[in-house]
Amino acid sequence: MDMNNVNIEEIVKQVLAGMTGDKAAAPQASGNTAVPKTARVAMLTALEHYDIKEYPIPEVGDGDILVKVEGCGVCGTDAHEFKRDPFSLIPVVLGHEGTGEIVKMGKDVKADSAGKPLKVGDKVVSCMIFKDNPDITMFDLNKQNVGGADVYGLLPDDDIHLNGWFSDYILIRKGSTIFNVSDLDLYSRILIEPCAVLIHAVERAKTTGILRFNSRVAVQGCGPIGLICIAVLRTMGIENITAVDGEQKRLDFARMMGATQTVNFKEHKGIEALAGAVEASFGGHLADFAFQCTGSPVAHANIYKFIRNGGGLCELGFFINGGDATINPHFDICSKEITTVGSWVYTLRDYATTFDFLKRAKGIGLPMDKLITHTFPLDQINEAHKTNLAMEGLKIAIINQ
Ligand SMILES: NC(=O)c1ccc[n+]([C@@H]2O[C@H](COP(=O)([O-])OP(=O)(O)OC[C@H]3O[C@@H](n4cnc5c(N)ncnc54)[C@H](O)[C@@H]3O)[C@@H](O)[C@H]2O)c1
Ligand SMILES: [Zn+2]
Repeated sequence: MDMNNVNIEEIVKQVLAGMTGDKAAAPQASGNTAVPKTARVAMLTALEHYDIKEYPIPEVGDGDILVKVEGCGVCGTDAHEFKRDPFSLIPVVLGHEGTGEIVKMGKDVKADSAGKPLKVGDKVVSCMIFKDNPDITMFDLNKQNVGGADVYGLLPDDDIHLNGWFSDYILIRKGSTIFNVSDLDLYSRILIEPCAVLIHAVERAKTTGILRFNSRVAVQGCGPIGLICIAVLRTMGIENITAVDGEQKRLDFARMMGATQTVNFKEHKGIEALAGAVEASFGGHLADFAFQCTGSPVAHANIYKFIRNGGGLCELGFFINGGDATINPHFDICSKEITTVGSWVYTLRDYATTFDFLKRAKGIGLPMDKLITHTFPLDQINEAHKTNLAMEGLKIAIINQ
């Protein structure tokens, strides 16, 4: 095949360069590798239906980067689009939790959004696309999250079509944020986006001043979001964590991620009994701090009862509107003096923190890669989404061959 010939040619050039010391024959840092003329994308063309389409790979502009996609996680947002198209994007190439290898870049591209040099062969993730908004900056942590910004995988279709990570190739255009994450393995790179959500949530929680090394922390909801929350807490040195869910398999996974106690809410009738079980899990104390990681309004109302007077709450479970919750302002917030923070998506700074988190989590032996329970090739993307909707696993990913 053509590809193999090109690779062999390159290897021969490198070997010759090494023998003769001829620097000119060595691959250039910003040199480009051969790419095919067309690329496949998985386009959502109707509710609950993707078609695999093939489009020409366009010219790469001076500020653009062409990335060969290695894989992409299926997110809750993709599930909403697949089922209901709430953002009215159909036809659309979805996939925002993707990663791959740079195969071609424009002459103006020298470094990633954190200033790290970029070259062909580097592994990258994209974050958001700037819209000339000076409030969204790399180094201003709590100024503004990336809500409202454009991201690849949630863009309207256009003449280029290579707009999402459920594809063979994606064209990252000038003005986008991109990070060089060559030092992370494929599964870690696929988990960056959901992990950034929890880095942000924990940073928001820290602003209350209540979350400390020896805090007793309750995490309600053990889907991917709650499980990663536990991993982030554990990685930063918090060691007294009670996980609350109704699925025993997920509670068992929570222990592997660092939870020290678990409470199955289905085993306790009524909120008083449930709060009593959380209290008992901490040896007769309520939680100093709690993270709400379900999209259930009832779970939101319940969680105040798990928290001690003067404690804190981070609510992050409602990425989309899940309806109203009924709480008692006197008992739940006012008389207990609970400090609450909301958390939604992340800042660019959180993205950079996430790369370090993933290395540390691996370093202390947390089985992050086991979060990806099912993988599918691109042409089985409909099956991948159905598996996701059936909640058969935790994180589903498309892995390109
Ligand atoms: N803040 C953000 O930016 C952000 C980003 C992504 C996702 N989210 C939200 O986080 C939530 C969790 O995401 P996920 O992917 O882990 O979802 P998921 O559905 O896989 O997990 C939710 C878990 O909560 C459990 N649960 C449901 N009701 C409960 C109750 N009353 N008490 C205890 N546990 C209960 C379920 O058994 C399940 O394990 C979603 O609602 C999503 O909208 C927020
Ligand atoms: Zn996502």
